[in-house]
Amino acid sequence: MKKTILTGIRPTGPLHLGHLFGAVGNWVKLQKDYETFIEIADVQALTDNFNDPEKVHDNVLGIAKDLLSIGIDPNEVHLFIQSTIPEIAELTVYYSNLVTMARLYRNPTVKTEIAQKKALFGNDGESVTYGFVGYPVSQAADITAFEADLVPVGEDQLPLIEQTKEIIRKFNHIYGETLKEPEHLLSETPRIKGLDGNEKMGKSLGNALYLVDDDETITKKIQNAMTDPDKIHKDDPANPEKCMVYYYHKLVNKKNLEIVCEECQKGHRGCVNCKRELILHMQEFLEPIRKKRAYYDNHPEEVEAILKEGNKVAKQKAETVMKQVKEHMKIDYIK
Ligand code: TRP
Ligand code: SF4
Repeated sequence: MKKTILTGIRPTGPLHLGHLFGAVGNWVKLQKDYETFIEIADVQALTDNFNDPEKVHDNVLGIAKDLLSIGIDPNEVHLFIQSTIPEIAELTVYYSNLVTMARLYRNPTVKTEIAQKKALFGNDGESVTYGFVGYPVSQAADITAFEADLVPVGEDQLPLIEQTKEIIRKFNHIYGETLKEPEHLLSETPRIKGLDGNEKMGKSLGNALYLVDDDETITKKIQNAMTDPDKIHKDDPANPEKCMVYYYHKLVNKKNLEIVCEECQKGHRGCVNCKRELILHMQEFLEPIRKKRAYYDNHPEEVEAILKEGNKVAKQKAETVMKQVKEHMKIDYIK
């Protein structure tokens, strides 16, 4: 029997290359070898965006189409929407007793996100909600509701998996062996740098290339990418390792990489040309993804059918886990 994967993604914006070469690309590689559940985590997205329901709503179908366009195979994967599985919310309530506030505030992912919010809103954190601080508990519910063996994620998610394991151990200790403890799995490239050289590509950082970007947008973004700052003139020798254009050549132009590197080092390559070449390779790389995306844009009923089926299978699975949880917690009163 195949082992089970559960992973998730927040529908807060379109997929970018960081997703594709990082965690999400890894899901594509793993999908055949595992029974794979991929959750579009709309409930989790709302912990951050409760005052912007349109944003979450509008990104759910978009994320589904993006995932299908990069090779998530609906015949292999159960792609589902978190809010259609009330069992996850139910488990979250029961697990919330097993976690202290202090432990949640110490969670490095939560800590970083709260610090970002404070910086953004310039307040002392008074506006941080109960739902937001508690989202690791809801993520533990996501993972355990599907008896996941493996959770493939980006490295920023590791503290959440750690917290999930603690909740599982505590639950099993108090109520008896019930929940399965998962392993995490990092992709080979857990993090892709942004066009500006920032260690992380992200929407809020404004340094991302999206799968849905058109040619004009891609051209503009690559033209503005960070190059070796010491290269002033077209024929100055430079260090490609200090250049984001080279970094992206590494991702989408593997076969010409040596030439790019050598010419750059020798000063035989101008940045304008080098960027132009990257733009062409990027367009070529994105072409099949865009084709698939256009197909799904024209066939939204297919995407809906895929999600409907995914929701159904996910619900069945979560119901069986929920039943055991209730039994072990002695909250199944009338049979
Ligand atoms: N927290 C994840 C993110 O922000 C998304 C997510 C939701 C998730 N539920 C999950 C990841 C369960 C792994 C397992 O990207
Ligand atoms: Fe970067 Fe290319 Fe310019 Fe070298 S020539 S610094 S690799 S853009």
